[in-house]
Parts: sequence; structure tokens; C-alpha cells
Amino acid sequence: MAYEFILVEPQVAPYVALIRLNRPKEYNALNLQLMGEIRDALSVLDNDDAVRAIVITGNEKAFAAGADIKQMAGKSAVDMLKIDQFSTWDAIRRTKKPLIAAVSGFALGGGCELVMHCDMVVASETAQFGQPEINIGVMPGAGGTQRLTKAVGKVRAMEMVLTGRFISAEEAKDAGLINKIVPVALYLDEAIKMASAVAEKSPIAVQLAKESVLKAFDTHLQEGLYFERKNFYMLFATEDQKEGMNAFVEKRKPDFKGQ
Ligand code: HXC
Repeated sequence: MAYEFILVEPQVAPYVALIRLNRPKEYNALNLQLMGEIRDALSVLDNDDAVRAIVITGNEKAFAAGADIKQMAGKSAVDMLKIDQFSTWDAIRRTKKPLIAAVSGFALGGGCELVMHCDMVVASETAQFGQPEINIGVMPGAGGTQRLTKAVGKVRAMEMVLTGRFISAEEAKDAGLINKIVPVALYLDEAIKMASAVAEKSPIAVQLAKESVLKAFDTHLQEGLYFERKNFYMLFATEDQKEGMNAFVEKRKPDFKGQ
């Protein structure tokens, strides 16, 4: 399959596939097409018996700096509802094979949420994680308020979501958001190594074990996700969302009016 915004290597190591986000100039901002390509690639790899684990990465500077603000800036709540981008995210979440994120640089907003859609995370020393949507007049919409809270606990999640502060790889590891930190030169190799360790096991046992671990999170998650989604859409009915996103695009400080 030909993709524009991702590169796919079906055998980066025995039984291990690699998906690389490839919009480097935009810090891998997740536009709708890119997300659709990740979904399609995962669906192909999930159905390929020669693949048992999948690594998702970006580049040294950015895993992904979030959903594409330029694409969202002018949208209304109804536009966002009709686009229904979250069906793509849900499909990614339903991937049966283990996903290992190899993160360097920025993993922000939807980028941090994409990391949390993965099952294990290797980060470089320069990785930074954040949910800065609050800076542009919105809030996380792809599970950030739910999965981050479960991963790092209430007070850290509140701080990240309400202040938009980025956390370092070190803090992320302390908080339980990621598995490992390695030097920048090694983060991808280390993620492939972790994927290879899984790929040696029985793929059926791995599939059912992954499904079972996720069950621990999913029991009450769906309700939380619907709740979060409604609020996310509603923010596109505010002037502050327009102001926040336009200010980003125009490279100025936003002036929020609470409208
Ligand atoms: C669109 C983005 C972008 C984004 C960066 N770029 N992030 N474009 N959407 N999320 C673009 C910039 O516009 C710029 O393009 C280029 O990438 C480099 O970014 P700079 O800002 O010039 O780089 P720098 O000063 O190094 O700052 C890096 C940064 C900053 C800290 C990552 O770009 C930033 O704050 N980005 C936005 C992060 C964010 O708010 N993410 C959450 C998005 S909302 P040009 O063409 O100007 O050179 C979200 C909601 C998810 O994710 C909801 C569910 C899907």
C-alpha cells in the first residue's frame, strides 16, 4: 500500500514491523490522513502472520506534536462530530498485536495519546510528554483525560492537563507512563529489541494476554471516553478554541475571553 505520511517496514527484524510517522516539517502533527494511514497499516500488519509485534516511531525531534491544529482551527463542533476521527483511534486501539512506541522529542496532545494507545514505550533521553491542549482553548480528546489519569494518577494528570506542562522522560518513567529511557542513538533499536522479545513468544498467548491486560483498563473506560469526547466536541463551539488555535497558527499569544 502506498502511504504519504508514514513509512512502513514490514520486517525490520524477524516478526517485527515498523511504522514511522513521516511529516517531519510539521513535527509529525497528526492530520486526518496520517491517522487513517496508521489505521490502515496496522490493519494490514495485524492480519499478516509474518508480523508478531509492531513498533511505532517518529524521528529524533518529534514522535508527534499532536493533532494538526491548522486542520482543526476553523472547525465547528458539528464539523468535528461529523468527521468522527475517533473511529480511527478506536480502530488503532483494537489492534490485536502488541504495539511498542519508540519516542524521542515531543509527544504532545494527540501524540501523547497515541503513545498511550501503545502497549509499551521506549523513550530517548530527550523525550517530552504533554497534554498542552489547554493552551489552545481545548482539552484532550483521544483518551488523554482517561488513560493518562490511569497511567500517572490524578494529581500528575491534572497538572499536565490543566497547566499544559510537559514532563521529561525521567518524570514519565517515574510516573509509570513509559518503560525505559535510553540514549537518543539507541531508542529505536531498544524498542525493536523489546518487540523482538515479545515476537519470540506464542502469538496467540500474546494476543490473549494483551487483550486481558487491556480489559483491566477498559471496563469503565468506554463511558469515560464518550464523556470526554462530548466535552471535546463542545469546545469547538467556543470562541476560545478559535482564538487559541488561530493564535498558534499566527504565532502569537492567545487572548482567552471565556466565551
Ligand atoms: C500543526 C504544528 C503542530 C500541530 C507543530 N506544528 N505542532 N502544526 N499542528 N500540533 C508545526 C508548526 O506550526 C511549525 O510549522 C512547525 O511544526 C514547527 O513548530 P514550531 O512551533 O515552529 O517549533 P518549536 O518552536 O520548536 O516548538 C515545538 C512545539 C510547538 C513545542 C512542539 O510546535 C507546539 O507547541 N506545538 C503544538 C503542540 C500542541 O498544542 N499540541 C496539541 C494539539 S491539539 P511552520 O509551518 O509554522 O514552520 C491535540 C488534540 C488531540 O492534539 C485531540 C484528538 C485527536
